[in-house]
Amino acid sequence: MKLEEHKFIRYFEPEQAAQISQIAIIKKFSPPEMIFEEGDDSDALFLVLEGEVKVSKKSSEGNNYVVITSVESNGYFGELGIIDKQPRSGRVVAFKETTVAKIYYDSIIDILANTKGDVVLKILSILSQRLRTVTTEYVNQLAYKEKMALIGEMVNTIIHDFRSPFTGIQLSSSMLKELHPDQESQEWCDLISMQVQRMLNMAEEVLAFSQGNTKLFSQQVDIAKLLQNFKKLNQVYIDSTFVELTVSVEEGLIINADENKINRVLQNLLANAVEALNQYEGKIEIKAQRKDKWVEIIFSDNGAGIPEEIQKNLFEAFVSYGKQGGIGLGTAIVKTIVDAHGGDIFFESTPGKGTTFYLHFPLVV
Ligand SMILES: Nc1ncnc2c1ncn2[C@@H]1O[C@H](COP(=O)(O)OP(=O)(O)OP(=O)(O)O)[C@@H](O)[C@H]1O
Ligand SMILES: [Mg+2]
Repeated sequence: MKLEEHKFIRYFEPEQAAQISQIAIIKKFSPPEMIFEEGDDSDALFLVLEGEVKVSKKSSEGNNYVVITSVESNGYFGELGIIDKQPRSGRVVAFKETTVAKIYYDSIIDILANTKGDVVLKILSILSQRLRTVTTEYVNQLAYKEKMALIGEMVNTIIHDFRSPFTGIQLSSSMLKELHPDQESQEWCDLISMQVQRMLNMAEEVLAFSQGNTKLFSQQVDIAKLLQNFKKLNQVYIDSTFVELTVSVEEGLIINADENKINRVLQNLLANAVEALNQYEGKIEIKAQRKDKWVEIIFSDNGAGIPEEIQKNLFEAFVSYGKQGGIGLGTAIVKTIVDAHGGDIFFESTPGKGTTFYLHFPLVV
């Protein structure tokens, strides 16, 4: 969009609007470039003309960042410094190719001094409105966290109490296996063990999620190695289905990531894809390639497609459809992990044709 069309400029009378447009400096940022860091001196307001940025804050527990809000074209950020000149309270990073207009506070204040009182009031009210929205978003996030902490406590108790009966079931099934060496009994016993293990895994997954997945143990990860290893680990599982899994990946793509967590992302997507194929012959394809400054992982299946009813809320917790025993946490976990890595995930899905997830992670080399 043109600078003159930006809503912030349009709050001013034409004369002042023209003055601001003149002093604005147009800058371009490519993802994942940082525009400013938490704690930096505040000196300017930024108007977003194209693209999108993410505002994040250092989490209280560690050295990772929690996304507070995002700002798209026609939005603005860094406005609070006009009023209090305090250091930046968050970090802003370009999320897409972004063009901003940078306007130094001193020039805005000079212009405001010559602006009618009612215009100044309007601008102040707009600034405080923004503060209110961001606060509401933040409070909602906190309430959600508290809810999850409660669920975590509950699940922790459940896992604790269920562990001994589960061990009992596992032991009994291996005893039965020894007593009945015939093929059919062996298969039934294996099924019992597998399902008990699955229940435990699910409970632990809920626990990890409710405790927050944001703590990352990051190191440089070679995507080609990671994906080949992932395929190897799942070969037995894949062989027990009618599905064909192919992995094709460009060599030399390195990201900074928590390998275990990335594996959990892939594992959840794989489980969903296999479930969507519903025992029919199908194809699951994982590709990885360089895309600008990102690594793009494309995860596709030719299964039933994601039901339209849940497409909008897919990444929210407890959204599940058409599955016995689905908790609806898989994709919520996936999204939390991808976000914690400063990445992005979205999907395309056509009923009856299949689903493709696109995952982007900042590239190191
Ligand atoms: N690849 C896919 N193809 C078709 N539908 C999908 C696919 N991935 C997810 N879905 C749909 O989205 C829903 C939510 O998936 P999600 O992984 O979040 O939860 P779940 O699989 O139901 O339960 P959980 O993963 O917690 O065991 C699924 O129930 C399914 O209906
Ligand atoms: Mg799932």
